[in-house]
Amino acid sequence: MPEDSDKYPTESGRRRFVKGVVGSATLASVGTGAAAAVGSATSATGAGGGLTQFFAIENTDGPAPRGMPLIPIEVQGGELVGLFPDNIEDGVAQMQIAGQTYSSAWFQYCGVQTYAGVQPGTDQDNTFRAASGAPYAWMEDIEAGTPLTVDMFSDYEEWSNGIGRGGMGKPAMASWRSQDVSPQETLVAQVLRSERIQELREDPPEGANGDFIRAVTTEDGFIAWLNKCTHFCCVPGFKSIAGSAAFGAEDRVYCQCHQSVYNPFSIVQGQFVALPRPE
Ligand code: FES
Repeated sequence: MPEDSDKYPTESGRRRFVKGVVGSATLASVGTGAAAAVGSATSATGAGGGLTQFFAIENTDGPAPRGMPLIPIEVQGGELVGLFPDNIEDGVAQMQIAGQTYSSAWFQYCGVQTYAGVQPGTDQDNTFRAASGAPYAWMEDIEAGTPLTVDMFSDYEEWSNGIGRGGMGKPAMASWRSQDVSPQETLVAQVLRSERIQELREDPPEGANGDFIRAVTTEDGFIAWLNKCTHFCCVPGFKSIAGSAAFGAEDRVYCQCHQSVYNPFSIVQGQFVALPRPE
């Protein structure tokens, strides 16, 4: 499968199909864990690619073909940590979360499939760490690589940077599973703490799998995702660019490359063709 087949959806019918699946399949409504990662396999051209069911923050506008994949997050000793599956099967790492399959194949797009951090069985640190060059003033004094902690987000209920409404949540740019790898292989993630995530946990949309939502977020309102735009692989941001207001995205995750918009308060299920990892 050539990489471009994922990055450049060429046929509009396919895009409508994929978006239709995402839009109509909010959690619980599609399949079970057993149906996930269909087609994952090892082939002559690589490992662990194929049709993959995944969960994401929803893509709501722009040319991106689907949402950005969730990274299940939890708090360990006050630090924010992403879960990475540990059971290697069919060429990918997998684990069950509330009846759904979480697979390392969720991250196999945009070249990320070649990064050390997504290789099954790789012993990497799962702590979310401050990214360098983050577009948020509150992170300027935090040295890149510093573990992100719950304390850093204590003002999340009123935090504002002048973009959109205050009190929507406090974001950070993070690196994940990328200690001691080249900068080009850094897995870029976004972490967000918001009351809206707490509300989503307490009152999930009708038909959604509330147990799954609660398992991949934290009770104090944290959510995380791989921050690679599914269009042409830019790094978007939540409240990171004032110009996002022109596209109605000032309280959303906005990709300035071609104006794709993602809603971090909507967790949806979709499917895509994961690219195989080089062997
Ligand atoms: S919208 Fe094109 S790369 Fe994000």
